[in-house]
Amino acid sequence: MGKFFEGLKPCYCDSSAALYLSDTFEALEKMLSEKVDMIFADPPYFLSNDGITCSAGKAVSVNKGDWDKIESVEEKHDFNRRWIKMCHRILKPNGTIWISGTLHNIYSVGLALEQEGFKIINNITWQKTNPPPNLACRCFTHSTETILWAQKTDKSARHYFNYELMKDLNGGKQMKDVWTGALTPSTEKRFGKHPTQKPVYLADIKWKIWWKAI
Ligand SMILES: C[S@@+](CC[C@H](N)C(=O)[O-])C[C@H]1O[C@@H](n2cnc3c(N)ncnc32)[C@H](O)[C@@H]1O
Repeated sequence: MGKFFEGLKPCYCDSSAALYLSDTFEALEKMLSEKVDMIFADPPYFLSNDGITCSAGKAVSVNKGDWDKIESVEEKHDFNRRWIKMCHRILKPNGTIWISGTLHNIYSVGLALEQEGFKIINNITWQKTNPPPNLACRCFTHSTETILWAQKTDKSARHYFNYELMKDLNGGKQMKDVWTGALTPSTEKRFGKHPTQKPVYLADIKWKIWWKAI
């Protein structure tokens, strides 16, 4: 495996993968420039506003933790600009970045991407087939998340898109920017639960889009 970090030790490593546990800003600081082909980030959505949601048929707090709280819109945007700028430095010229979010953070993320030298390639809508019901009954059920796919704005940047494979996976038709599927199943939570864990099939599509390039 290539060298990506200067002065950071993995908490797990085998012949094909290494896992690092660190504060994002510290880890990104220690990463070498232009070494990364693809980034997938699932940053805080900042939706912990003391509201309630439904989980397993029960009303539960939406609060995820202190990491999901923010004092102001400006603080949220500053946070997003800082880590996205750092991602720009470590990404290869032809590399791409995927970032997931909801209405709570995705507009800040999209603006931050453009401000920090990225061009958005696609705005993917992840449509959940089994979203939790809306308990307040004062708006539509939240049943989608957004995943932004972006590349560097440099004129010479050429992102890779495995078009034929995507078409094959979609029964011979061009794959659209709406991906439909269920929430993370319990079988994927056997090592512990995270309230915003993403299902494996989402990562799988992103990986395959870029597959032939490596
Ligand atoms: C939307 S959740 C993503 C969770 C992820 N999908 C999972 O299943 O583990 C955002 C995550 O960002 C982490 N986080 C927030 N600020 C961070 C920071 N400065 N450095 C590293 N992780 C951070 C939180 O602990 C949380 O797990």
